[in-house]
Parts: sequence; structure tokens; C-alpha cells
Amino acid sequence: MDIVLKTKEFVREKLSGEGTGHDWWHIERVYKNSLSLIEKETVDHVNKEVIELAALLHDIADWKFYNGDETIGPKAAREWLESQNIEQYVIEHVCEIIMNLSFKGANTKSSMKTLEGKIVQDADRLDAIGAIGIARAFAYGGYKGQELFNPMITPKEHRTSAEYKSQNTTTVNHFFEKLLLLKERMNTEAAKEIAHERHHYMVDFLKTLLKENQYENSLHYSKLQNFQSKGSFR
Ligand code: ADP
Ligand code: NI
Repeated sequence: MDIVLKTKEFVREKLSGEGTGHDWWHIERVYKNSLSLIEKETVDHVNKEVIELAALLHDIADWKFYNGDETIGPKAAREWLESQNIEQYVIEHVCEIIMNLSFKGANTKSSMKTLEGKIVQDADRLDAIGAIGIARAFAYGGYKGQELFNPMITPKEHRTSAEYKSQNTTTVNHFFEKLLLLKERMNTEAAKEIAHERHHYMVDFLKTLLKENQYENSLHYSKLQNFQSKGSFR
């Protein structure tokens, strides 16, 4: 069997039924997003196999569920790839992408070097925004037992990844602290275009949510006005 197909089966088996937003269907969406970005970006050459494998394996094990250990994901992916007949340079490239993938706070830089990595990162980020992103955020918030919204807690601009990880937040604040920042973080033109639409959908959703609760004069609402056009804190 083809290695991509085999990897699909492996990941599907491992993640099916997972309830925190990293289930198989998240992986399938990221995989599909990656393929459409490859098509839309008119690039000379990308290693499609690297992109497919990285998209499929990117959430095979998540630091958030292993005491913050960021090496756990790449390790698990490497173990699988090394059990298969795959060239070493492909394994290295896939693991490097997985290592660099996750978002670590508003003011932290990502270091994705290759176009393959940039595409997978965009594909993953697209699944965190728009309607699906809203659904995933509230699912994750529920899993964490986090408040939906608390007007007394202001959104924070995290400067380091340690700060971002140790946060205690509300789900509405998570939009300000991560999801509304992603539009500006897209690497490829194709992803920027899709992100633009999904961004405005989220802003509309949050405005409606705040209006329903008579919070048009809140700090949250005024911050939202900033985010409407710029996708940044100020
Ligand atoms: P990804 O798999 O897209 O890299 P993460 O692993 O960071 O995303 O998180 C999985 C999902 O949970 C994402 O959709 C993200 O927005 C959401 N999420 C992460 N942290 C929080 C939080 N504190 N509150 C609400 N949603 C969150
Ligand atoms: Ni993901």
C-alpha cells in the first residue's frame, strides 16, 4: 500500500473519537486544505509527499496533553515513519515541520523554513478560524471547563510561548489572543485569501455575541473594532 494511504489509516485509527478538536476529522480537513493550497499556489516544485505526511501526522501527539512536552509530537511521528520504508530526508523534513507547527502567542515568531512547511502551517491555521474554528474553540473550552465569556477578564497579548501556554483564559478571549491574529500570519497568498473571509465571519459572530449580551460598550467590543480591519491588537 502507498505510504500516504497507510499513514492515513494509522492516524485515523489512532485519533478517531478524540473529542477536543484534534480528532481524525481535523486531520482530514488539514490534509484537504493542504492539497487545495498546493493547487492554488502556482509554485514550481513542492514535495507533495512531505506535505501529505506532515499534514496527516501533525497532531499525532500534542504537547498540551503531555505536560507541555513539545518533543512528543515529532517523536511519535518519527517512530511511525521509521517503521516504514521511507527515505531519511523525507522523515527529517516531516519531523521538522511538525516541530515548528504550533502557535505560541501573539508576539512570538514562527520559524517555518520550507514552502512545504508553510503550506501545512497555513492549512492547520485555516482550520482554527471561520465557522469550524468557532466550533473547535468552544469544544476545546468545554473540555477545559473554561468560561465562555467573562467581561471582567481582558484579552492578553502574549509575548512568549511560556506565557501563552500558562494562560488561564475564556473562550471569547481565545479569539483575541489567537484566532483573530491568524489572518496576518498566513504564509501563502492562497491561504491569505481564504483567511480574510473566515476572519470577517468570526468578527461578525463575536459582535453578535456581545450585542446579545448588551456589551456593545465593553472593552471587548472596542477591541473587536480594531481587529475588524487589521487583525491585530492596535
Ligand atoms: P491546532 O491543532 O490548530 O494547531 P491547537 O492545538 O493550538 O490548534 O488547538 C486546537 C484547537 O483548540 C484550536 O482550534 C484552537 O483554537 C483551540 N484552542 C486552543 N486553546 C484554546 C483555548 N484556551 N480556548 C479555546 N480554544 C482553544
Ligand atoms: Ni492541528
